[in-house]
Amino acid sequence: MSKLSLTTAKIHQDFPMYSSEHRGHFVYLDSASSSQTPRPVLDAVNAYYETYRANVHRGMYQASETATKEYEAVRRMVADFIFAKEDEIIFTRGTTESLNIVANGFVERLEAGDEIVLTVMEHHANLVPWQQVAKKTGCILRFIPLRTDYTIDIDAARRLIGPKTKILAVTLASNVLGTIVPAAELAKLAHAHSAVVVVDAAQAIGHIPVDVRKLDCDFLAFSGHKMYGPTGTGVLYGKKSMLQTLDPLLFGGDMIREVSFENATWNDVPWKFEAGTPNIGGVIGLGAAVRYVQKIGVQGIAAHEAQLTAYALQKLTEIPSVTIIGPNVTKERIGVVSFDVAGMHPHDLATILDADGVCVRGGHHCAMPLLRSLGHMNGTTRLSLSIINDEKDIEALAAGILKAKKIFRI
Ligand SMILES: Cc1ncc(COP(=O)(O)O)c(C=O)c1O
Repeated sequence: MSKLSLTTAKIHQDFPMYSSEHRGHFVYLDSASSSQTPRPVLDAVNAYYETYRANVHRGMYQASETATKEYEAVRRMVADFIFAKEDEIIFTRGTTESLNIVANGFVERLEAGDEIVLTVMEHHANLVPWQQVAKKTGCILRFIPLRTDYTIDIDAARRLIGPKTKILAVTLASNVLGTIVPAAELAKLAHAHSAVVVVDAAQAIGHIPVDVRKLDCDFLAFSGHKMYGPTGTGVLYGKKSMLQTLDPLLFGGDMIREVSFENATWNDVPWKFEAGTPNIGGVIGLGAAVRYVQKIGVQGIAAHEAQLTAYALQKLTEIPSVTIIGPNVTKERIGVVSFDVAGMHPHDLATILDADGVCVRGGHHCAMPLLRSLGHMNGTTRLSLSIINDEKDIEALAAGILKAKKIFRI
């Protein structure tokens, strides 16, 4: 294959997981589940715990002021990263919590007969909260189907999105198929009917450029741990006018302005949505992750992962009885590739691959309705790429599949 955009040998020096203990045995192809952590992120988290650990927004002493300054600086960094404004960024525990905040905020505003439009390939995090909203309000869920090439059926979307649509909630990139969803185009259709647009960017962030202005979404959610940040960190972006009228999900300290025995008023946006002591060290680590991704450059990352995706598709397609479940093209897709090996359960394959240090995910990938509707009752095996991967990882995976086929006599 042609020379990769990024030099992985250099990148591996940033990741302690590639220390001598693991070198040569660690083929990590599960970044869509959670990425590995580079040294600058670990250093930033440690610096907080070792040198200025204190709570934010309340202490009147140096350590607390430093913690507050560093925590709030990340808000600016994240805002710049997705082309938002600082007060449009809320820190959460991850995509799941971000989407739950939005869904919960609409319970009081929707009525029986209103429609919420999703795609059939939503992660449970962008499906189950809306199911709950539908149960509580009598709203109807509608699903945009896929074409046979696993891309969004935009004609069907045009027919589905209409005057009854109140919410359009779609993933920007599928964690199962790798398909990139034309979210900006769908947002235009939804906004023509004054619907609110929610985008789940969990699999897109840090892999392809994400620009909330271009998407023109009202809300956007992502997780820090899928873009080299610490676990338990995430972001909810919301247009300020939306956040001002949205009810918070959690109540308590820090999110209030005035409290009496009977009543309370809310703090300004975004703090209205950050009740209690936040994950301060995690957020500071998230800031370091944003800086790390920006230093490498999202365009370069996207190019690197696209080259490797093309190579993975080629190598997998060469193996008899392997079928790609997703677009078998390199355009409009991310480096998440699901596949099926005829006659082999994804869990068996993942276990055999693990014996050679190859980490992939097998199963339903938190998108059970999608896989069942596609007829993959046991799910699929999924590889997912990031900046740490190179062609040797794909070759190790292909060799592992051939070995598993021999064991199963397929
Ligand atoms: C598309 C998508 N949405 C949402 C989530 C949920 O993310 P988290 O578990 O970090 O909340 C995931 C996680 O895999 C995902 O892939």
